[in-house]
Amino acid sequence: MSNERRQIVLGVTGSIAACKSVELLRLLVQAGFDVRVIQTAASRNFVGMDAFQAVSGRPVLSEMFEGGDTITPAAGAQAGSGPSPDFTHIELARSRLLLIAPATANTIGKMAAGIADNLLLSTYLACACPVVVCPAMNCRMWEHPAVQDNLRLLERRGVIVVPPETGMLACGEEGAGRLAEPPRILARVIQLLGEPVHGDLEGLRVLVTAGGTREPIDSVRFITNRSSGKMGFAIAERSFSRGANVTVIAANCSLPRNPGIRYLDVVTSSELARVLNAEMGGFDVLFMTAAVSDYKVSGTGTMGKIERVDKKDLQLVPTSDIVSSLDRNNKCSLKVGFAAEYGEDNLERAREKMFSKDLDMIVFNDISRSDTGFDSDDNEITIMAKDRGDVFVDKTSKAECAERILDQVAELLADSSGGCP
Ligand SMILES: Cc1cc2nc3c(=O)[nH]c(=O)nc-3n(C[C@H](O)[C@H](O)[C@H](O)COP(=O)(O)O)c2cc1C
Repeated sequence: MSNERRQIVLGVTGSIAACKSVELLRLLVQAGFDVRVIQTAASRNFVGMDAFQAVSGRPVLSEMFEGGDTITPAAGAQAGSGPSPDFTHIELARSRLLLIAPATANTIGKMAAGIADNLLLSTYLACACPVVVCPAMNCRMWEHPAVQDNLRLLERRGVIVVPPETGMLACGEEGAGRLAEPPRILARVIQLLGEPVHGDLEGLRVLVTAGGTREPIDSVRFITNRSSGKMGFAIAERSFSRGANVTVIAANCSLPRNPGIRYLDVVTSSELARVLNAEMGGFDVLFMTAAVSDYKVSGTGTMGKIERVDKKDLQLVPTSDIVSSLDRNNKCSLKVGFAAEYGEDNLERAREKMFSKDLDMIVFNDISRSDTGFDSDDNEITIMAKDRGDVFVDKTSKAECAERILDQVAELLADSSGGCP
C-alpha cells in the first residue's frame, strides 16, 4: 500500500496522558503507518514536539498561524499583502484516519459544538475520513453529564469512541478515565482500516493463558487466587502489536479486550486444561501466565448453597499439573512459564520449575512484595531460559515487562533457526 494511503493523523491534546501518545505513535509507526502529529498548545505542556517528531520522523504541527492560533495582523499589513494562506488542515483532513488520543474534555466539547479555534479542531471539521476519539481525564470529569452528552452526540455523528479504562489516575484518584492502553487503540485503528499488523513477530501464532481459575465449593462459592490477568493480557496485546496472531484463554478476567485478539473464556482448572490441550497444536509460542488453582474441592462440589448449620468440612485434592501434562508430541511450541514465588531461594525454585516442567523459558516474580505482581499495574521480573544468562527487569509497567519478555522470545526463536515452521 502506498504511503499516501497509509497516512493517518494523530491529534494529541492537553491531558497528562499525552506522554502515552508517544508510545501509541511508536506502535503506529511500527505497524507501518505514516503518522502526522498535531499537538494542541495545551498538550505541549505535557510532552514537547521533539518527542513526537523523533518518533514519527515528520515535523509536528501545532499552530494554524505562524506565531500562534490567534490572528494578529502585523502592523501595517494590508489585505492580500501577507504570506500565502496555509491550508494544512485541509491537506491533513484527506488522511485515512484522524485519531485523537488523548482527547480532553475541552476538545471533546469543542468538537461537539463545532468550534474550530485550533489546527486539530479545524482538521476534524474538514475530515471526511473516520475519526477515533480516545478520552482521558479525571473520573469525575469523565462522569460529568456534559462530557457524556458530548460524546454521545459525537457518536451519533459517526465518531468512534475508544472508552477510557478504570484504574489509578495520574491525579491520585481511582476510577474511570485512564487513556485506553496503546495496543488496544492500535487494534481499533487496524480493525477500522482492515489492515494486517506489521512487526517483528509477524505471522507468529501466540497462545496466552491469563487470569486465575476458580474451583467451585457450591453454586455460589469458589476457591480462587489474586491473579487479575493483567500480565497475560499485556503479553497478548504486545504480541498483537508486534504482528502476532494471538489467542488468549482467559480464566475469569474482567479486563478490557482487544478487538484484534481472540479470547476463549474458561472458569475452572480442568476447563483451562481441556481448552489448552485442544488449542495448543496450532501455536508456535505458549505463555502460561494464568494462575491455576493447586487444589479443588473433592468430588464435583455441592449444588445449591451450603448453609451455616450444615457445618461442612471441605476436603481438598490437588488439581492436575497442566504444564507438566501438556501433550509432549507438540514439539513445535516454545513454552514460557511464570513462577510467582515467595520466601527464600525463590529464584532457584523458579529455575528448578523450568527444568522439571520442561519449559524453554520461565519468568519469575517475587510475590512477597506488595508493590508489584498480583493485580498491580507493575511488575519486577527475572527472565530465565535454558543455556542463557538471566535477564532482570527492574520494577516497571506490565506492558514494558511484556515487551522485554517478547524480546527474549524473539531472540530464542531466532537462535533456533527462525522459529517454528
Ligand atoms: C496537570 C494537568 C492535567 C490535566 N489533565 C487533563 C486530562 O487528563 N483530561 C482533560 O480533559 N483535561 C486535563 N487538563 C485540563 C486541560 O489541559 C485543559 O482543559 C486544556 O484547556 C485542554 O486544551 P486542549 O483540549 O486544547 O488540549 C489538565 C490540566 C492540567 C494542568
